[in-house]
Amino acid sequence: MRKPIIAGNWKMNKLAGEGARFLMDIREKLPDGERVDTVVCGPFIHLPLLTEAARDFPVAIGAQNMHYEDSGAYTGEVSPEMLKDILVDYVIIGHSERREYFNETDESVNQKTKAAFNHDLTPIVCVGETLEQRESNETFTFVEKQVKAALEGLNEEQLKQVVIAYEPIWAIGTGKTATSEEANDVCAHIRQVLKDTYSEEVSEAVRIQYGGSVKPANIEELLNMSDIDGALVGGASLEQDSFLKLVEAGANA
Ligand code: 13P
Repeated sequence: MRKPIIAGNWKMNKLAGEGARFLMDIREKLPDGERVDTVVCGPFIHLPLLTEAARDFPVAIGAQNMHYEDSGAYTGEVSPEMLKDILVDYVIIGHSERREYFNETDESVNQKTKAAFNHDLTPIVCVGETLEQRESNETFTFVEKQVKAALEGLNEEQLKQVVIAYEPIWAIGTGKTATSEEANDVCAHIRQVLKDTYSEEVSEAVRIQYGGSVKPANIEELLNMSDIDGALVGGASLEQDSFLKLVEAGANA
């Protein structure tokens, strides 16, 4: 049984104090960490406050990006070592917004994924197709290529800990969710690719989230599908009530 994982991606929203207050308000209401992994991914400068507010509660803190080097002349960047130092546990890698606006490539995604493991951070690796690719039936081949490139060079133990987020670009922030069947078909394909490329054990261990307009009204149906183990949520993670409902759905899945 794979443990469900619900992650909020706040993107570039909230001021640091608002983020910390959000966590302090919800932390007593979160379900038991045995039933669901809850993650909040905030902007870099909020992270020290968020890890402090989350301490001893069943919610882990994630970053939304990082550099792959430990240190060096990379003005404006944040390293995996810096994240670990302030008790961050997760990092989103290769979100489509970073691929689209900040030149993130399959190669940098792979470097960052490997760097995450070097510092004991759990990577949430994002993949997903454009509307154009979906309409020309390229979804499976495109997503397969992204997954293989991201995971290249990882060992079996690392592979089992990876979280993959399947986020079709056309469903992000648009209110258009993939149907649960559409989402599950791609997640099942990703699992098959993991099995063919690595092993059955890896394919059974890796948790695959769906992301793209997930909200309390559609999460249960998504989590009921065979190959969807959680959600990566943007808009609906910004409000306490809806985030708590999403996490509760994860705990009951
Ligand atoms: P929305 O939930 O706002 O569609 O965003 C999805 C997303 O990009 C999460 O990483």
